[in-house]
Amino acid sequence: MKLILCETYDEMSKKGAEIFIEQLKNKPDSVLGLATGSTPVGMYKELIKANKEGEIDFSKVITFNLDEYYKIPMENEQSFWLTMHKNFFDEINIKDENINIPNYQDDDYESFCLEYEKKIKEAGGIDLQVVGIGHNGHVGFNEPGSSFSSRTRKVDLTESTIEANSRFFKNEDEVPKEAITMGMGTIMEAKKIILVVNGEGKAKAVAGAAEGEVNEEMPASVLQKHNDVIFLIEKEAGALLKRKNEK
Ligand code: PGA
Repeated sequence: MKLILCETYDEMSKKGAEIFIEQLKNKPDSVLGLATGSTPVGMYKELIKANKEGEIDFSKVITFNLDEYYKIPMENEQSFWLTMHKNFFDEINIKDENINIPNYQDDDYESFCLEYEKKIKEAGGIDLQVVGIGHNGHVGFNEPGSSFSSRTRKVDLTESTIEANSRFFKNEDEVPKEAITMGMGTIMEAKKIILVVNGEGKAKAVAGAAEGEVNEEMPASVLQKHNDVIFLIEKEAGALLKRKNEK
């Protein structure tokens, strides 16, 4: 596991973007795993810039998003579908048919989840996956207690996640209580993973994920077992870490 402490959010975003840029230069038809949330937004801005300047091309790229609220309409301002389109997809030259987000409206979510897994396999697996981390150590919507071998499935959100995400909604009651998420097993199969994290509110989760015991109560801790993972940690988010930079 490689751990890089960054002085600022901007530095974290630029370093994350550099990894994506290198990936796309080496393999223009890469399969990318993407995260919503506020943390990767700066990195997406950098990638939009690189695309507009002609440094990278998304025309052959296939993407799979980690998660989405269950049954949320795509056009809902808070859907991950719309957020990703606004913050990223609408600004780059990716083909609509190459974008995959687990936005699903029907009751038969089990077959949808199996299909999502199948599509990832058929695309050749995820080459590079970006993840964030929740205050409770979740990755995607794999809340504490999620099995490390879990696959794409419907999950209940914990109170702490509902509370954290209520900042985007009018009130807590409006936050969806269920989601569809790639599993920890799905995420760990990505060939390369980067974790981006920002802000002192995440410091405890970061310390647990990077230096704590590998335990299903701290889903992100399993990343320690991945053979090609980079933690890009903004300084305040890394305040409780014992070890320092490993560039
Ligand atoms: P955030 O979300 O980037 O909005 O903090 C991360 C997460 O909850 O996984």
